[in-house]
Amino acid sequence: MRLFDYLNKRMGFTSRHSRVLDKPVPGWINYFYCFGGITFTLFIVQLLTGLLLSVHYVPSEAEAYRSIQHLQQVVPLGRLLRATHHWAANLMVVMVLAHMLRVFITGSYKNPRELNWVAGALLFVMTMSFGFTGYLLPWDQKAYWATVVGTNMLGSVPFIGPSLAAFVRGGPDVTGRTLLRFYSMHMLWFPVATGFFLWIHFHILRRLGISGGM
Ligand code: HEM
Ligand code: HEM
Repeated sequence: MRLFDYLNKRMGFTSRHSRVLDKPVPGWINYFYCFGGITFTLFIVQLLTGLLLSVHYVPSEAEAYRSIQHLQQVVPLGRLLRATHHWAANLMVVMVLAHMLRVFITGSYKNPRELNWVAGALLFVMTMSFGFTGYLLPWDQKAYWATVVGTNMLGSVPFIGPSLAAFVRGGPDVTGRTLLRFYSMHMLWFPVATGFFLWIHFHILRRLGISGGM
C-alpha cells in the first residue's frame, strides 16, 4: 500500500481514473449483464495466450505444422497454452452470442444506443474473423480444407466473389501466401481493429450508462 501511495502521489492514478473507476452499478443489474464483460475477459485471455503462442509459431508453409508439433511435445506447458487459446476462442464465440441475445431481449439496442449495436456488430465480425483465420494456422488437413471451403463460399458472392476470394487467399488457391496473410490478419490487423471498436463500444457505454435507467 505504501508503494501504491508513493506512486499515486506522483502519478495521480486515482484522480485521473476516478471518473472511469468509481461508477456504482445500478440495483436492477443481474447475471445476464455479465456476458459482455465475460466476452471481454476471454478476449484478454486470447491476447495473452496468443502472444505466447506467437513466440513458438512459424507462419511458413514448411514450418507451421512442425512448429505446432514442437510446441505441443517439447515446449513446457505448450499443450496447455494451445488448448487454452483453442477453448477460450470457442467460449468467446458462445459468450458474444449470449451477450447479443441479452442486448436484444432487453431492447438495449434502441435509440440512443443504436450506434453501440453497430460497434458491437463490428466486434462480432472481428470475433468470427479471428476464429476463421486462427483455424488455418495449425496448417493440418482439417485447417487447410476448412479454409478451402470457407474461401470458396466467399467466391460465390455475386459479382465481387472471385476477386474477394483471391484477395483473401493471396492468389487463386490456398497456399503458403494464404497462411502468411491469415497470420498477419490474426496477429496484427484484427487485434488493432478490435481494440479500436472496443474503445468505441466502451466509450459509448460509459457516456450513456447501462440501459434500463429512467
Ligand atoms: C468482443 C465482443 C463484445 C464485447 C467485449 C462487448 C462488451 C460489452 C460490455 C462489457 C457491455 C456492458 C453490458 C453488458 O456486459 O451486458 C456491453 C454493452 C452493450 N453491447 Fe457489447 N460487447 C461485444 C459485442 C457486442 C455485440 C456483438 C453487440 C450487438 C450486435 C453488442 C451490443 C451492445 C450494446 C447495444 C450494449 C449496451 C447495452 C445496455 O446499455 O444495456 N455488443 N458490451
Ligand atoms: C489478439 C491476439 C491473438 C494472437 C496474438 C493470436 C495468436 C495465435 C497464434 C500464434 C495461433 C497459432 C497457434 C495454434 O494454432 O495453436 C493462433 C491460433 C488460433 N487462434 Fe488466435 N490469437 C489471438 C486472438 C484470437 C482470438 C480473439 C480468437 C477467437 C475468437 C482466436 C482464435 C484462434 C483459433 C481458433 C486458433 C486455432 C487454434 C488451434 O487449432 O489450436 N485467436 N492464434
